[in-house]
Amino acid sequence: MRSKKRKSIFSYYDRESAAAIEMRRIYSHISRMTKSNGSPIKSVAITSATLGEGKSTVAAMFSISIADSTGKNVLLVDSDFRRPKINELFNINLKGGLTDILRGDLPLSSCIRETIFSNFKIISAGKISPRHQVFFNKEGFAELINKAKYHFDLIVFDCPPIIPVSDVMDISAEVDGVLILVKAGKTPKEVVKRAVDLIDGSEGEILGVVLNDVERVLPYYYDYNYYNYKYKTSIPKSSRKRKIIESDTIK
Ligand SMILES: Nc1ncnc2c1ncn2[C@@H]1O[C@H](COP(=O)(O)OP(=O)(O)OP(=O)(O)O)[C@@H](O)[C@H]1O
Ligand SMILES: [Mg+2]
Repeated sequence: MRSKKRKSIFSYYDRESAAAIEMRRIYSHISRMTKSNGSPIKSVAITSATLGEGKSTVAAMFSISIADSTGKNVLLVDSDFRRPKINELFNINLKGGLTDILRGDLPLSSCIRETIFSNFKIISAGKISPRHQVFFNKEGFAELINKAKYHFDLIVFDCPPIIPVSDVMDISAEVDGVLILVKAGKTPKEVVKRAVDLIDGSEGEILGVVLNDVERVLPYYYDYNYYNYKYKTSIPKSSRKRKIIESDTIK
């Protein structure tokens, strides 16, 4: 019996959706920022303090939205060797990706996958052996970024979480900036602060903290009908949900 093929994340992508609008808003902030030496932000690592906060989903949506809305050349790289997800989200092969490049087994050019958008390409995590730890090749990673910058305007790395996996320290030191994702209402403030401190200590530049899955804790915020039809009236002042957001975000 033939197995049913999973739907690619492209089938869920809607450029008018709240998620796509938020992705463009994030990019608008990033594109106005520069590195400490004045150069523009061209490579971004997306990570979070802990597991399952939505890094891969947001990295994928962010990359698609920016390629689609700006026409810039965008490359999405799965840099999570332990829990690779980009291959699943886009229905592509895991093998022939980042680990193969970092081991020196394959050249960068042979690992770049085409997508339905001509200006959006992907590199999967690569061949992963569960019995052998993947050693992060920092020099190889820096070289990959330098080469990719010739062909792409924005390189997005879907990373492992900061606290349980040390690879992110090496990645954040090489990229232009780091976005820290926080699942709204889930990750305790102290845990996020610890993650921020670790990135700060690794020479990584934090571009900002992105709150994910806000809809679950703050329904009216994402209700675009609410804004369309009732924008001129006042937003409820005493929202329990707003308190959750204020207490959970880092100040
Ligand atoms: N904003 C959101 N709204 C609803 N579901 C979400 C949202 N963001 C992520 N998810 C869901 O949460 C789950 C975990 O997401 P994802 O795999 O992107 O997290 P992750 O941080 O990359 O996890 P890991 O630490 O394992 O790499 C998935 O089932 C995803 O569909
Ligand atoms: Mg992931």
